[in-house]
Amino acid sequence: MNSENGSRKAQGFAAALRRLRHTQGLSLSQLSGLTHYSRGYLSNVENGHKPATTDLARRLDDVLRAQGALAGLVAPAEDTPPCPYPGLAAFGPEDARWFFGRARSTAALVGRVTECVDRDQPLIVFGASGVGKSSLLSAGLIPALAAGALPAAGSAGWPVLVMTPTAHPTAALAEHAAPLLGIPAGVY
Ligand SMILES: Nc1ncnc2c1ncn2[C@@H]1O[C@H](COP(=O)(O)OP(=O)(O)OP(=O)(O)O)[C@@H](O)[C@H]1O
Ligand SMILES: [Mg+2]
Repeated sequence: MNSENGSRKAQGFAAALRRLRHTQGLSLSQLSGLTHYSRGYLSNVENGHKPATTDLARRLDDVLRAQGALAGLVAPAEDTPPCPYPGLAAFGPEDARWFFGRARSTAALVGRVTECVDRDQPLIVFGASGVGKSSLLSAGLIPALAAGALPAAGSAGWPVLVMTPTAHPTAALAEHAAPLLGIPAGVY
């Protein structure tokens, strides 16, 4: 990639990052806290002064729930096979084939979800920061549900909503849930 192309890519990435961050109502400091990358580094990337790495793009996609939009804006290194390790980012559903060591936890989680569906109860997964909660849900539970792990008719096709509460959790929930429910978004 020549330097002109590289600079254009960095500017495109910068603009997309700024847009996504503003949409989520996050400051650079908050984004730094969520991604574990320094505020200064993120600021440089957002201003187009530094190119984003694939690791950073994936982490930002994860935190901003951008579904790979930012990773898609980072030029892939030519002739490089996909890396099975997502770096600081959580494993996503698309990484399930590379997600190892959590089979028992995934099975236990499916069991708990089954109980909670029967009882109409919510289920909360909590644990220390970085212990692997998001990965377990995204690369363990979601693919298991899509493969029909729940003993409920049609559950493999149930909609799955993955979202970040942001600084405005009620509004974020309304915005994300409304399209799934087929109703206009609004907080009442
Ligand atoms: N089964 C696994 N094998 C190898 N690495 C893993 C595994 N699960 C998670 N990781 C890695 O561990 C790190 C933390 O994972 P993850 O983001 O899922 O944790 P988390 O508990 O959701 O973190 P946070 O509290 O920051 O939200 C990431 O780098 C992720 O790629
Ligand atoms: Mg997480």
